[in-house]
Amino acid sequence: MSNQVRIFDTTLRDGEQCPGASMNLREKLEVARQLARLRADVIEAGFPVISDGDFEAVKKVATEIRGPIIAGLARCVAKDIDAAAAAVKPAGKMARIHVFLGTSKIHREFKFGKAQDEILRLAVEGVKRARQYVKDVEFSPEDASRTELDFLVKIVEAAISAGATTINMPDTVGYATPEQYGDMFGHVIANAKGAENVIFSAHCHNDLGMAVANSLAAVQHGARQVEGTINGIGERAGNAALEEVIMAIRTRGDYYQKLHLGIKMNEIVKTSRLVSRMCGFLVQRNKAIVGENAFAHSAGIHQDGILKKRETYEIMDPQEIGWGITELPLTKHSGRHAMAVRLKHLGFALSDKEMEAVFARFKTIGDKKKFVYDDDLAALVDDRISEVPEVWTLDYLSVSSGNQTVPTATVRLKHTSGKKSPSETRQDAGIGDGPVDAALKTIDRITGKRGKLLDYHIRAVTQGKDAIGEVTVKVDFGGKEAVTGKASTTDIIEASARAYLNAVNRVLAKG
Ligand code: KIV
Ligand code: ZN
Repeated sequence: MSNQVRIFDTTLRDGEQCPGASMNLREKLEVARQLARLRADVIEAGFPVISDGDFEAVKKVATEIRGPIIAGLARCVAKDIDAAAAAVKPAGKMARIHVFLGTSKIHREFKFGKAQDEILRLAVEGVKRARQYVKDVEFSPEDASRTELDFLVKIVEAAISAGATTINMPDTVGYATPEQYGDMFGHVIANAKGAENVIFSAHCHNDLGMAVANSLAAVQHGARQVEGTINGIGERAGNAALEEVIMAIRTRGDYYQKLHLGIKMNEIVKTSRLVSRMCGFLVQRNKAIVGENAFAHSAGIHQDGILKKRETYEIMDPQEIGWGITELPLTKHSGRHAMAVRLKHLGFALSDKEMEAVFARFKTIGDKKKFVYDDDLAALVDDRISEVPEVWTLDYLSVSSGNQTVPTATVRLKHTSGKKSPSETRQDAGIGDGPVDAALKTIDRITGKRGKLLDYHIRAVTQGKDAIGEVTVKVDFGGKEAVTGKASTTDIIEASARAYLNAVNRVLAKG
């Protein structure tokens, strides 16, 4: 058995599936590019049959990203497998089809109304169909951790003899405990015929907060692929956080002896930040590895110890995972070339038009702020690459507020209905419970879209009183799903209005 633990990233599929984390094509592509720089072994880019958008995203990632294997998800259904095959085809030899089918009693009886034999037959047919398209087929008995062990062995054997090359045994509902999940791997690997010819994979959800522990238990019992997402995003309580799995294996090399990873560690923080910005999910401050406090020591005794020898209180070197690698900041005097070089270094691939737009924003911010740091720049780029057609744009905003004043906003918006029709300007004024509320209510009056603000976050992108404020909003416009909007600028009321308009434009783009 090889001792490399492959990292299978499903941020763009299982991660993106969670409400409010959806990304558009361009955002997914930026995440995929960064995952390739991180040297993830597999990128699951989406579930192609689900929608045209998912299909296009998987196809685009399969076309543009080189290095990792590109996987597309499919149920054991012909149309799913055919769609996944077409979407991953541009990846050539690096294409993988990942088929799954519920195998636990509860899934068999209530989801499918089918007996074990029928489920077995569907799994075999699904794997065989996928193998007609690609050599690399992963099979997942969904809800494996709640499947009877003897049936699990049987279906795994059948999938292997049908041609599966990776067997993933998910803890779909986050029900397993580490001992139980590890034992399940030990048992199946010891008893399923052909187990020595395939790679076993762990896929854990975090409903009981044990996704990472369960993944590591599976590795100890023979799994050599771990599936998860960056920052642990995902449905409900999320998936196993890959950065935690990676750093546990890396840091506890004494315990996980001989195991190794192909990951480029110093890309971890950058990847976490990009995913957070692209899907609008903030990382909690005390999150292991990538939270802002992960390496902040406030206790005097700790600080003293660290100054004497870092290892007294630090088990990982923050620099090794990409913390604190700061370049000299840019200023308003920096030219287009300097900004372009820095953006390239940060990993952004922008068109000339996008570069121009970012440069214009950079100059405006440079006038307001003494230094423009890498994180500031990244926030400006994110605004430009959200690729949402800007039907409504902010032209003018004036807000008055104070402890003796009724907060009042005057807003002027530009409306562009299509490339051919000239844009028109609409203006209104309104009051609210505070300056942000007044601005957003006035925007509602102008656009005619009534949004209910479900969530509002503001974050200083860098330190200092002149820091860029990044605002993320989650808005319910009465559709199936809440819409996320984001924007960054040095004025937090303006950033709030822009973020809200970003959400309005996103909902209009969805149609
Ligand atoms: O959690 C799960 O079971 C899944 C499968 C599709 C692998 O995401
Ligand atoms: Zn899952």
